[in-house]
Amino acid sequence: MKSKPLFAVSSLLAASIILFFVLSISSLASAQQTQSNISRGSSLTPTKTSSWLSKSGLYAFGFYQRGNGYSVGVTLAGIPKKTVVWTANRDVPPVSGNATLLLTDTDGRLILQTAQDQDTYIADIQQTASYASMLDKGNFVLYNSDGGIIWQSFTHPTFTLLPTQILPAPNDLSSSLFETDQSTGIFFLRMQRDRNLVLYPIGNPVPEYSYWQSETYDMGDKGSLNLDLDGRLYILNATGFTSKNLTSRVFRRRGTIFMLKIDWDGLLRLYSHDLSNSSRWSILCNNTNDGCAPRGLCGFNMFCVSSDQKPGCRCLPGFAEVNQGNRTSGCERNFAAES
Ligand SMILES: *[C@@H]1O[C@H](CO)[C@@H](O)[C@H](O)[C@H]1NC(C)=O
Ligand SMILES: *[C@@H]1O[C@H](CO)[C@@H](O)[C@H](O)[C@H]1NC(C)=O
Ligand SMILES: *[C@@H]1O[C@H](CO)[C@@H](O)[C@H](O)[C@H]1NC(C)=O
Ligand SMILES: *[C@@H]1O[C@H](CO)[C@@H](O)[C@H](O)[C@H]1NC(C)=O
Ligand SMILES: *[C@@H]1O[C@H](CO)[C@@H](O)[C@H](O)[C@H]1NC(C)=O
Ligand SMILES: *[C@@H]1O[C@H](CO)[C@@H](O)[C@H](O)[C@H]1NC(C)=O
Ligand SMILES: *[C@@H]1O[C@H](CO)[C@@H](O)[C@H](O)[C@H]1NC(C)=O
Repeated sequence: MKSKPLFAVSSLLAASIILFFVLSISSLASAQQTQSNISRGSSLTPTKTSSWLSKSGLYAFGFYQRGNGYSVGVTLAGIPKKTVVWTANRDVPPVSGNATLLLTDTDGRLILQTAQDQDTYIADIQQTASYASMLDKGNFVLYNSDGGIIWQSFTHPTFTLLPTQILPAPNDLSSSLFETDQSTGIFFLRMQRDRNLVLYPIGNPVPEYSYWQSETYDMGDKGSLNLDLDGRLYILNATGFTSKNLTSRVFRRRGTIFMLKIDWDGLLRLYSHDLSNSSRWSILCNNTNDGCAPRGLCGFNMFCVSSDQKPGCRCLPGFAEVNQGNRTSGCERNFAAES
């Protein structure tokens, strides 16, 4: 008879331990939610449920930290150092922690609500979205009631190209301002209608200012830039024939993710990340090894110094930086040093 209450006590204890674990697991999971179909009325906030994960957990759509605030985008979340691969409204300042990202219940719009400002649209859509999904390839998609795609992040590229994503002509990828600030920077990659893939400084998309090109021009109709799951980067012509392989070899590694990115310094780099055994991205190849090739990297009265991996900007003799550590503001005559 004695064992019965004891059992009851221990089962109560066990139940509360289980409940504790369930609660702690669900509170962990609430930070990022795996949800194949994101239904209308779903919402995210920077500090509670901040993102919707893809099925495998590799990609996440939602808020990510930017400076002292938050921006909305797609991140590679399944690696130790979360990496931003797409960003919405990149030139809009980050929002505070009390913002809400919402797939509206009434009219199926994806909007960002902040207390101070008016709602901002994340996806510019004409139709009503029925549901959304963060796909395992890194594409965030909005669907209509027939399951047709009405908007996808893959067709609104920012600064990266992910495997299976296509950059059709005429389309651009543009660099970020700094490594940690995804606002539009000063260089861009254009897949041109003439099938040439060209790097330009922003504001000067003319041949004289281009600092790299694939030399696939004059070969016919418009093409597209493609990145495969095995890291092969190539240009296709309008009828789907490879007109140029930009990577000279096939990397093909299981459990490796690839990413093409136009970096803040204007260089186009193909990165790889081992998903099982690495905490960082490695550079597989780049359009040039000369970090000073992109024109306009340094401000007025500065010159570029190509170093190991990152180019540096230095002032001309007799000049000093206007803003310490800010290459875009350039250098001015240093009267103190002269006298
Ligand atoms: C998502 O919703 C669509 C349309 O309602 C449905 O066809 C599909 O099976 C759903 N997918 C999942 C994984 O629930
Ligand atoms: C949201 O946060 C901002 C900045 O922290 C603050 O000014 C504003 O009052 C907050 N709004 C609400 C509704 O809490
Ligand atoms: C694409 O390339 C193939 C093979 O070179 C060629 O036969 C075809 O005409 C090209 N298509 C266009 C639209 O230029
Ligand atoms: C590009 O590479 C693929 C795979 O290695 C190869 O089959 C193809 O012939 C190459 N095409 C050109 C135009 O070099
Ligand atoms: C993990 O990475 C290290 C260094 O990059 C390498 O030596 C090792 O062979 C890798 N292990 C596996 C299982 O891939
Ligand atoms: C270019 O890529 C190579 C690897 O192929 C790397 O070693 C080198 O540091 C890269 N250069 C720049 C400037 O990124
Ligand atoms: C750098 O300087 C430029 C021009 O003076 C300015 O617009 C920009 O905001 C500065 N950037 C930073 C990070 O201070």
